[in-house]
Order: sequence, then structure tokens, then C-alpha cells
Amino acid sequence: MPIGPLMKEHRLIEKMITLINDEIVKMKEYGKANPLFIDIAVDFIRMYADRTHHGKEEDILFRDLEKKELSPNHSKIMKELVEEHIWARNTVGKLVDAKNHYVKGKVELLKEIINLTSQLTEFYPKHIEKEDKHFFIPVMKYFTEDEQNKMLQEFWDFDKTLIHEKYKKLIENLQKM
Ligand SMILES: [Fe+2]
Ligand SMILES: [Fe+2]
Repeated sequence: MPIGPLMKEHRLIEKMITLINDEIVKMKEYGKANPLFIDIAVDFIRMYADRTHHGKEEDILFRDLEKKELSPNHSKIMKELVEEHIWARNTVGKLVDAKNHYVKGKVELLKEIINLTSQLTEFYPKHIEKEDKHFFIPVMKYFTEDEQNKMLQEFWDFDKTLIHEKYKKLIENLQKM
């Protein structure tokens, strides 16, 4: 089933959330942030959790669900999930801003960094649970086996493009520096 890879990706996202939680404890204990860790965590969230994972959810699964007659409950959950993805994107953007100003000397932004990272680590487990327990499995019934197989293939094709996209963007960013 196409939801297999999505659920597997959730497990890796959960591992990063645990690592971020450990980092929050350190930030509180030592009274400082580790910008390098934040850069790595942000890259993971943006490239893996958002582009790779939410990308497959929104651009493929949700796109195909839009064409089906969803129950009011499933259509409500799907709207919430899309809104939650937007919220996560915005929150990560705020975290990057706070970290950039922190690096430039605004050390009082440590509080904001702790607050934003905490919001993200509270958000992801709830979002994942909603998908894993209340959405992914029940919505598979809207698809035939053939449609599910096609979706799985489209997931693999989608994933293949991402490593190229990531490093192309990296070069473009470096050229701008
Ligand atoms: Fe999601
Ligand atoms: Fe997800």
C-alpha cells in the first residue's frame, strides 16, 4: 500500500523530534543555542519532513483524494492536515529567522528559539498520530488496488527527483553568496 512508505517516513521524523527535544534540554541547561544543530534540524525538516514527506502527501495522495467523494470527516481531516503543513512551514521559517539573528548577536532570541523548537516537537507527534491512526488506513478504501499501485510508483518517482533538486538548490544558493 502507498501509505507504507509514508508511515516509515514518520518513524524517521519521530527520531529527529527526539533529538530536537534532547537539544531543547541542553539549550535550557546551558543557556545557549547550537546554531549548527539548528541548521541540521531545519534542513531535515525542510527537505525530508516537508519536501519529501509532505510533498508526497499533498502532491500525490491528497491530490488523488480530491478527485474522490470523501466522507465529511475525511475531507475535514485532509483540510486540517494541509493547514498543519502550512503551520509547520511557517514555524520553521520563524526558527530560521530567530537563529540568524541569534548568530548575529541577539542572544535574547534564545527564548524564541526554545519556544519555536518546542512548538515543533509538540506538533509533529500529534500530526503524525492523526495521519497514522485516523486517516491513512481508512482513506485507502477510496482507491482500487490498481490505483494504489500507481500511487506507490509515483511516490518512488517523486523521491528520485529530490536528491537532484536538493543539491541543485545548494549550488544556486552558494552562487548567490
Ligand atoms: Fe502530514
Ligand atoms: Fe505525514
